[in-house]
Amino acid sequence: MNSSYALGHADEELARLEHQAAMLAPATGLLLRRAGIGPGMRVLDLGTGTGDVARMVADLVGPTGSVVGVDRAPDALAAAARLTDQPNITFVEGDIADWRSSESFDAVVGRLVLVHTPDPVAVLRHHAGSVRAGGVVVALEFDMTGARSVPPTPLVTRAREWICGAIERAGMDPGLGARLGGLFRSAGLGEPTMVGVQGYHPAGDPNGPLVLAGVLRSLLPLLVATGVAGEEEVGVGSVRERVERELTEAGAVFVPPTLVGAWARRK
Ligand SMILES: C[S@@+](CC[C@H](N)C(=O)[O-])C[C@H]1O[C@@H](n2cnc3c(N)ncnc32)[C@H](O)[C@@H]1O
Repeated sequence: MNSSYALGHADEELARLEHQAAMLAPATGLLLRRAGIGPGMRVLDLGTGTGDVARMVADLVGPTGSVVGVDRAPDALAAAARLTDQPNITFVEGDIADWRSSESFDAVVGRLVLVHTPDPVAVLRHHAGSVRAGGVVVALEFDMTGARSVPPTPLVTRAREWICGAIERAGMDPGLGARLGGLFRSAGLGEPTMVGVQGYHPAGDPNGPLVLAGVLRSLLPLLVATGVAGEEEVGVGSVRERVERELTEAGAVFVPPTLVGAWARRK
């Protein structure tokens, strides 16, 4: 299951990724800057998808720096190329398990990609090998285990259980973000700095229900295949409205998964 990207790349999925990317932009920018991504750097973006992180990094490194975004999905790379007009970005098709550039990089970054790889330690170790001594390896992953509403509401609680349950049964780790430290140590990168950035969406903010409904729609085949939930139970056609109503009636704040950043310098 986790040898391919579990959520696919249909047009609807690409649109969902773009909305998710806009939601994640503030946290991503904060973590990338804090990890030391800055002007003049040459950066590799693993599992670049539609290129959102690559574009943010291109802005941070400026015209004297450059970014290479690698992904194995040609449709995502085609979308990334359409969305990009910065001259300092190159997109390359490749499997991050074994793809390697002949050049070395000042930094390797990857957002929401290690969770999709069967051996994230091997991926980190492999790409740490393309970072110059003193360069930085940065991983950004979700810790989904704390996603909730405050106060708790039934559908949001059930949705988190469905999503985490299906991801687990598919052999992936919904709490991977929290465990990045162990992966870095096992990959020989030492003890990383780790910081989680948490979004909050007050009742009435449409973005929380939209994100949750989009994830449920994309994961529906997996929810059903893993036996975590049935199609009727999830009711994707109405789930966004039901979450929105539930949060509004309870005056509840929607708390999405935490985006955890881990980074370490190569000795
Ligand atoms: C959730 S998307 C994240 C995209 C992007 N990093 C972002 O944060 O917006 C995961 C991406 O990783 C890619 N991916 C997963 N496993 C891969 C592998 N082994 N080699 C290359 N790309 C991979 C998928 O094709 C997909 O585009």
